[in-house]
Amino acid sequence: LSLIYLDHNASAPVIPAARDAMRRALEAAGTPSSHHAAGRAARAIVEEARERVAAAIGARPAEIVFTSGGTEAVALAVLGGARAAAAAGRPRRVVVSPTEHACVLAAAETLRAEGFAVASAAVDAAGRTSADALTAALGAEGAALVAVASASNEIGTRNDILTLARLARARGALFACDAVQSLGKEPIDAGALGADFLALSAHKIGGPKGAGALYVREGSPLAPLLRGGPQEAERRAGTENVPGIAGFGAAALALPERLAAVPRLRALRDRLRAAILAAIPAGAAVESGDPAGGLANTLHLCFPGLDGDALRIALDLAGVAVSGGSACASGAHGPSHVLLAIGHSPALARTAVRISLGPENTAAEVEAAAGAIAAAVCRLRRA
Ligand SMILES: Cc1ncc(COP(=O)(O)O)c(C=O)c1O
Repeated sequence: LSLIYLDHNASAPVIPAARDAMRRALEAAGTPSSHHAAGRAARAIVEEARERVAAAIGARPAEIVFTSGGTEAVALAVLGGARAAAAAGRPRRVVVSPTEHACVLAAAETLRAEGFAVASAAVDAAGRTSADALTAALGAEGAALVAVASASNEIGTRNDILTLARLARARGALFACDAVQSLGKEPIDAGALGADFLALSAHKIGGPKGAGALYVREGSPLAPLLRGGPQEAERRAGTENVPGIAGFGAAALALPERLAAVPRLRALRDRLRAAILAAIPAGAAVESGDPAGGLANTLHLCFPGLDGDALRIALDLAGVAVSGGSACASGAHGPSHVLLAIGHSPALARTAVRISLGPENTAAEVEAAAGAIAAAVCRLRRA
């Protein structure tokens, strides 16, 4: 049984160029801080990767801080930004969207424990935060920091970051954007977007897991989370993950090819949706998100009345890797907070299946997956 991997929003396969770059970087004995030839070799690897990641998002190399992944990049932006702004006299208040990734919501909860107020911006039925919703959440007091993701990992809905960042900054708030799901799926121009912070993760674009970066706009205040050595211009102490960074750089260099595949992924996704819906009874599936304007690779379906766990097990046994889209905390599956935020009942949310395509997927895989999904849905509806 060959696996049909349709879970690219969770993690994408490592591309050969990233694997090669990592293998080469493992040979570097020195740390990038060492003042000898081996140190300079390691430094060169890190700085080349920094240039590549910066170029991929229209940033300057000095605006890139390497981290251990998207979660750390988000934590650095939300905690480090809010703490620095509050220390400079901004209100101890942050605004987040309820459809953010768990790492954003958890960082906001950490701030709450430090005495910050946390306000939630309303979302529409697609999970989108409007300018009016952000204005309402900012209220008269304003905020130290606003955090809204560019795109939802679960339902693929995209936010208008250009507008929201401009609005937040006009009110004196820092704007942090979790851009983890946008990298490689839509062009990002950090300079033009106007956010203070953009969180990125290597493993969503064919780089390694455990590597990421935070774009920090020049001049935006940031209190480091990790202190010690002077690495990353004193914004993130600790010896750099040189192989991980090298792999991230190689994946960033290949980003144009990834972006070029997006129209093909949209066509494959639309074919997948059509094939599934044609093979199951009318009304058997409910689609979430923003099919027209959301991420082109993402299809999110709920199947009312079905046992979601049984469906996902059936698909796993059939060799189709998809996500349940439910938050998994310490082994316990609860209904997704994103689906609850857009108004789904817990029962409906538990039937969710998120399918996310990547450049490696073929038309044949999509046909086979559609058949397997429709067959499993029909079988479980009779059970
Ligand atoms: C939207 C979003 N933010 C943050 C993360 C966390 O990234 P990482 O897995 O690199 O910590 C993910 C990945 O799961 C994500 O999808």
